[in-house]
Amino acid sequence: MFKSSDDKFILSNGVEIPCIGYGTWQTPSGDVARTSVKAALDAGYRHIDTAAAYGNEEDVGSGIIDSGVSRKEIFLTTKHWVTERGYEKTVAAIDESLKKLKTDYIDLYLIHWPCVEKISPDWKEINASTWAGFEKAYKDGKIRALGVSNFLPEHLSALFETAEIKPAVNQIEFHPGYYQPENVRWCKENGMVIEGWSPLGCGAVLNDPTINAIAGKYNVCAAQVCVRFALQSGVLPLPKSVHADRIKLNKEVFGFELSAEDMTALMTLPPIGYSGFHPAQAPADALCE
Ligand code: A2P
Repeated sequence: MFKSSDDKFILSNGVEIPCIGYGTWQTPSGDVARTSVKAALDAGYRHIDTAAAYGNEEDVGSGIIDSGVSRKEIFLTTKHWVTERGYEKTVAAIDESLKKLKTDYIDLYLIHWPCVEKISPDWKEINASTWAGFEKAYKDGKIRALGVSNFLPEHLSALFETAEIKPAVNQIEFHPGYYQPENVRWCKENGMVIEGWSPLGCGAVLNDPTINAIAGKYNVCAAQVCVRFALQSGVLPLPKSVHADRIKLNKEVFGFELSAEDMTALMTLPPIGYSGFHPAQAPADALCE
């Protein structure tokens, strides 16, 4: 088991990824993103997760520069947005992200949402052609590892039919109350690391009485229980906060270990905190209509 946030998961291509990342979904662009990314790096995070669609890549890049931490020490993830599907647009989107992030490489690049049947009968071909753009940038040395987000096994199986380089990561919603065990198992069996977005259920699970009772036993807070729940499930958590004290707290999760009984209690909670974003319903595409 991990002993500190400097410990790493190893991706299928041998690239090491720090076992906790700092999430920036819903972090407003501008000073908030810039100062909170710097606060995360000051607190010792060395893994930052953003996305083109978050609208804060430029500020994430500025926060990294402000921190004074060398780029090589930081693992930086960003994501490809649904409007940029297909080979040519994907290649251009990668260059755009590099420019905004003020860097010459991305550590991990993810397809943010799969193209699905609801969007197009050609969804498999569309994902394959996007992926070909990913592979080109990987071979050109612009990206160190490739992955996906919000994919279900059916989307991954289809991608595997044409992919020359297999995705190393699937980033999915993961927190007590919604932890997608079948998807996690399938991805692990296929050599992928699972990252958990919204490991705190967007804050919505933090008042849950069971989670708080467990937190009380270990003298920690509910957010720390959620981060630990992901790690002990073998999932890489990406907690988000824009407050320096919480940012720090959310990575102080190595002084306690949840018992098997408490893990079971967390796994058997009624569904709480679910975002409602199901890949088959193409929620991200719906936002763009
Ligand atoms: P804030 O950014 O104002 O701190 P998730 O990572 O699951 O998406 O959850 C993020 C939400 O949880 C945000 O609303 C964030 O608010 C809140 N949050 C993050 N860390 C903590 C914490 N330690 N205690 C309480 N709320 C937190």
